[in-house]
Amino acid sequence: MSRHDLVRVRIPASTANLGPGFDCLGLALDIYNTVELSLAVATTVEITGEGQGQLALGPSNLILQAADRLAEQTGQQVPGWHLRQHNRIPLARGLGSSSAAIVGGLIAANELLEGGLDRQQLLEIATEIEGHPDNVAPALFGGLTACCVEAEDVCCVRLDAPRELDIGVVIPRFEVSTQQARQVLPEQVSFDDAVFNLSRAACTLAALVAGRWEVLSAVMKDRLHQPHRASLIPGMEEVIAAAEKAGAHGAALSGSGPTVVAFATEQQDTILDAMVAAFDSFNVEATSFWTKPNNQGAVIVDEEVSQ
Ligand code: HSE
Repeated sequence: MSRHDLVRVRIPASTANLGPGFDCLGLALDIYNTVELSLAVATTVEITGEGQGQLALGPSNLILQAADRLAEQTGQQVPGWHLRQHNRIPLARGLGSSSAAIVGGLIAANELLEGGLDRQQLLEIATEIEGHPDNVAPALFGGLTACCVEAEDVCCVRLDAPRELDIGVVIPRFEVSTQQARQVLPEQVSFDDAVFNLSRAACTLAALVAGRWEVLSAVMKDRLHQPHRASLIPGMEEVIAAAEKAGAHGAALSGSGPTVVAFATEQQDTILDAMVAAFDSFNVEATSFWTKPNNQGAVIVDEEVSQ
């Protein structure tokens, strides 16, 4: 028996890698999807917002797969689910939409079925489903997260993200799947490139925590994934350069792209205009907006899903 008939969860978007922190660093953002889940005799799905008409309405829906996984893991039989999801996170743009779905499904089912799993256990299941922890961790815990994975154990250290930082988000009109963006990565990297990235990943995290914005553009540099992904995202390198030239403290490909994010505390108008114009010079149409880091992570909410 559940103490709830229906559970609503609000899950933040996230930006992963932050330049050099490939598969390790993540930051939750103030953009949300909402999941409403209840038990039913047969499964039904309603989707509004991003992905409406595109996302699966049956058992292959990622939220339902995560909910089924939670039921299986806690030894419970569920005849069906009623799922209502309202999405504001664009799909396949590098803003953690699949992680938000997985985290939403796991938290909602855990609450509904009184599964009793804690957030660390949910992180481990979510990481296994997603394949890497750097979007699911900020979606679950909020803030700035650093993760590593050893077999099935996920070590995640969460820090409060600096709310004074504005995050400029520039989203090209086309999609890039994470699978596609991982296929272009090399199987091996040089010792020099490994050291280049690990030193900059450490500096990026330390600079964000210490508020040392002036070092961000120098340290948010990457040799492991962005150069390889440039072939999938026309103008990516120029958009990052344009952001920094216009006054951003640093900029990077968001997760596996194609979105580019910029970190700023001033010059916000000129930064986004410069980034959109740089994409435009490669004939890439892009939308843009500013958001803030989110420090709450996924939360169970009372209010109805708003459209
Ligand atoms: N770290 C992952 C990648 C994030 O870059 O492939 C996917 O959003």
